[in-house]
Formats: sequence, C-alpha cells, structure tokens
Amino acid sequence: MKNAIETKNLTKKYNNFTAVNSLNLDIPNHSIFGMLGPNGAGKTTTIKMLTCLIQPTFGQAIVGGYDVQKNPDEVRNLLGMVPQQVSLYKDLTVMENSQLCADYYGVPQDERDSRIEDLMELVDIKYAKDKRVGQLSGGQKQKASLVASLVHRPEILFLDEPTIGLDPTTKRTLWDLIRELNDSGHTIILCSHDMHEVDMLCDNVGIINTGNLVAYDTPQGLKDSLLESNKIEMKEALDKISEENEVSTSTKEDIENLSLIKMSFLLKNQNDEIIDAIKKSSDVESIEIDHNGRINLRIDIFDDMAVQNVINDINSAGGIIKSISTEEPSLEDVFIKATSEVNEDDRA
Ligand SMILES: Nc1ncnc2c1ncn2[C@@H]1O[C@H](COP(=O)(O)OP(=O)(O)OP(=O)(O)O)[C@@H](O)[C@H]1O
Ligand SMILES: [Mg+2]
Repeated sequence: MKNAIETKNLTKKYNNFTAVNSLNLDIPNHSIFGMLGPNGAGKTTTIKMLTCLIQPTFGQAIVGGYDVQKNPDEVRNLLGMVPQQVSLYKDLTVMENSQLCADYYGVPQDERDSRIEDLMELVDIKYAKDKRVGQLSGGQKQKASLVASLVHRPEILFLDEPTIGLDPTTKRTLWDLIRELNDSGHTIILCSHDMHEVDMLCDNVGIINTGNLVAYDTPQGLKDSLLESNKIEMKEALDKISEENEVSTSTKEDIENLSLIKMSFLLKNQNDEIIDAIKKSSDVESIEIDHNGRINLRIDIFDDMAVQNVINDINSAGGIIKSISTEEPSLEDVFIKATSEVNEDDRA
C-alpha cells in the first residue's frame, strides 16, 4: 500500500446540504498531511468519515488498506484520533480515561501504565493524572486527550485542531511529538487553522472549501503556484492597461496587490537622501516606513535582479544596511486566494 488513505468521490450530505462533495484524496503512507479550510468547510466531517464515526452518503474511503464501510473494526484498530471536541469521560480521571482507551485497543497490561505515564510526562500532564477530566482547564483536557489517543501507538493519527488553546511551550512539545511519531513511521492527518504549524510540519497540504478540495500540493508547491498565478494575473492586468487609455484605480490596486515579494530594510544611517534614492530605484513599486524605522518595499516579481538592484541603489546613496528580509507568499496568502471564491448557496 502506497497510500495510508485513499478516497473516491467521498461525499457527505445532511439532508439537502452537501458538507463534503465528492472528495478524491490520496495521503501517502508515513507522511504528514495538513487539512486547511475555513470554518464549516467540511474538515471535521471528512475526518469523521475516515475514522468511522459517521457513514459516507456516497463514495469510498480506504484507510490503511481497509474500507471504512466494509471493515470499520480493522480501520478503528489502526487509527488514533484527537477530536476537535475532547471526548473523554468527564467523571473519570486522566489516568482512568487513558487506561480505558488502552484496554479498548488491547494494549498489553504489563506495558499499559508505564506507556501512559511516559506520554503524560511528554506532554506535561502527569501532575494532574488523578484529576477528573471535568475539572481540567481547556489545555489540560487537550493534553489528556492526546495521551489517550496515543497510548495504542496508532499507525494513522488524526489530529483535529490539536494545538488550539495550548500554551506556546506545549505547542512546541506537540510539534516535536508529531515529528517524532512521523519519523518512526506513523501517518499524521492534521486539521489546523495555524498556517505556520501546517507550513512547518506538513509534507502535503489540502485546502477544502465548501466541501470541495480546491488545492493539493506541498506547502512550497502551493506557494510557488500562487506566485505563478499572480504573475499571469499581473500580466493580464498589464495587458488591460495597454489596451485602455484610462487606467482604473482598481486595476492599479490589483497590480499592486499581485506584486507579492515584500522586502524590508533596516539602515544604520537612514536619511531623506537615501530614502529618495530607494524611491527612485526602478524596481520599487511602493515604499513605507514603519514605526520601528524599517523600510518596507514591494518589488517587481518579474525581475530576478530586483533585490540586488535595490541593495545596489541603497549602497550607491551611501546607505549602510543593518538587516534585510524578503517575504515570499505565505501559506496564508495561498489559503485566502484558494478560499476567496465562495458561492453563498454552498454555505447554507
Ligand atoms: N450533524 C450535522 N448535521 C447537519 N449539518 C452538519 C452536521 N455536522 C456538520 N454539519 C455542517 O457541515 C459543514 C461542515 O462542518 P465541519 O464540522 O466539517 O466543518 P470544519 O471544516 O471542521 O469547520 P471548523 O474549522 O469550524 O471546525 C458545516 O456547514 C456544518 O454546519
Ligand atoms: Mg472542524
């Protein structure tokens, strides 16, 4: 099996409303897959079908080689799930919940408690192991849920917004844990609204919008294709300008927004003369100085030498550069573009 997950026209309808629309998605074995999409896009519904919590209306899903409808028990045995809403027993302690999970999955008795305690230490929840889940804080519940879902060392792990509400330190611990699990061969499916998290962790990313898969690629592939499509759109906008005598403000704005490479400089000896030189630099489309004194520029994305040219112009005007940063399109830019075209009827 090359893929941990394969879906064919996977569809979920609630009465007349289509929450997931004919999804065809392959997730390679041993990879980390990130699922992005606006609220209500169908991410949790997809995960629920893949983890046998709800039945698809049409289509097929194969998880770990098993059909979710024909072999749900086999599927359940090889997966772990950290749901969006923590689903532990409120009246049981953190320890008891984990033990229950371990017993359900047939974890050997002699290993059970030590495995649980190791995981508790890893996510730093051991201090609350005898507290009832109903008495935990949001982040503590999330940690307890993680321990319970990992205790049987699932081959395929589904994490539905696992870092929401976690403090920055715990977030990092969880990211490390996800990487470690992946290194040791586990496939991870991660739903998240945290673009940085997805960009950093995932091998592949799928963007779902109103139940449809609207993009699927590596994070870098998605960013590159945005740059490409912006270049095409920018070219079209420029062609429009050459056809029209009067250039509308909106066309001008369109072009400005498409020149996505942003650069910023901090100079040691900033003065009006140097700023003027930057303004005159042929590749600079706009310039703005922020409250920290950083000079933020937008430069032409067509010109490979643009960055070098601006640096040369600053140097020629006597400017001494303390720091430079350039900003490529982010996954957030890709997300916003991929999900911007929404048919309001599809969201009802
Ligand atoms: N049990 C249900 N009955 C009817 N409609 C539902 C049900 N569960 C989900 N939906 C609808 O299906 C759509 C997709 O919901 P889903 O929970 O999959 O979104 P999501 O992508 O996980 O969003 P979020 O980012 O907010 O978690 C939503 O419009 C939601 O209202
Ligand atoms: Mg959800």
